[in-house]
Amino acid sequence: MTQGKVKRIGILTAGGDCPGLNAAIRGVGKTAIVAYGMEVIGFSSGYTGLIHKQYVELKEKDLSGILTLGGTIIGTSREKPFKIITAEDNEKPDLIKETYHELGLDCLVCIGGNGTMKTAHLLSEIGLNVIGIPKTIDNDVWGTDTTFGFDSAVFIATEAIDRLHSTANSHGRVMIIEVMGHNAGWIALYAGMAGGGDIILIPEIKHSMNKVCNAIEWRYKHNKPYSIVVVAEGVDHPKSMSAARFFSESIQERVDVEARQTVLGYVQRGGSPTPMDRILATRYGAYAAQCIAEGNFGTMVALRNNDLTTVSLEEVGGKLRLVDPDNPLVMKGRKMGVSFGDE
Ligand code: F6P
Repeated sequence: MTQGKVKRIGILTAGGDCPGLNAAIRGVGKTAIVAYGMEVIGFSSGYTGLIHKQYVELKEKDLSGILTLGGTIIGTSREKPFKIITAEDNEKPDLIKETYHELGLDCLVCIGGNGTMKTAHLLSEIGLNVIGIPKTIDNDVWGTDTTFGFDSAVFIATEAIDRLHSTANSHGRVMIIEVMGHNAGWIALYAGMAGGGDIILIPEIKHSMNKVCNAIEWRYKHNKPYSIVVVAEGVDHPKSMSAARFFSESIQERVDVEARQTVLGYVQRGGSPTPMDRILATRYGAYAAQCIAEGNFGTMVALRNNDLTTVSLEEVGGKLRLVDPDNPLVMKGRKMGVSFGDE
């Protein structure tokens, strides 16, 4: 499609919400309207709105005052239109196509994580013009250096760890804090290092309970009266309990200490985005609008060495960006005596 021909675009947010979604909606929408004279539609609740034709027209004025808001003004869901469970599910891709053409859309902007990008790719395979924008607190979208939502989650988790230090110190306890991240350890690694965690456990580095306990005993022997253990939710543990409870109970069984657990949960995903996330989401959004104007479809906007670029959705779909066990931050931590539970 040649520049200037695009007239009408749809935007949706899918998957778990995160801080910065509204900043991204605003970035795409305002740029599309102001710079390129496009019309913008916002679909309700992710791919669900696209299937059931639930949408709102977003005018420039509707996009004001949302930059700092948490959540997403158009809602989200974990609907996967290509996942066939019942016979009716077969119809979903066709219903989406119907909505797209009936509304006269020239492009669909899908803001989401890995699952959303996989669906976005499948939609481009059935002939829709699609652009993806990567978001998630987990920071695990393949093809980009970072996703918006991550910085806010790290900020919240770090603040929680900071607060645990003082109560852990007062009581001489081991504090276990579980953070989100799905199968990736990015939040645990970054918040753990930013919050001065003593032991950081991530799924990408296989831990041994003995090594974890040795690290705690070593600290007590060296007059360090308390320990902070930051554990990612995806770390190997029995699924009948939280990772935090598993480590808390296992440590108390093996070491003569008092342990307490905190599962940080959804506060990591709520509330206003940090300035860095506002900027990243705005940059992604504005760049996505530019890509639409240039007809650069079937792609996800991405950040590489702080420069905006695009990567094909085909390349992104179905992959995860995990922490390399030799990540420079892990190596720095090790040299400072942080235990990753493996040595
Ligand atoms: O993908 C973000 C995330 O917050 C993960 O870290 C977490 O495992 C998951 O979503 C939980 O989301 P929900 O309960 O909304 O499915």
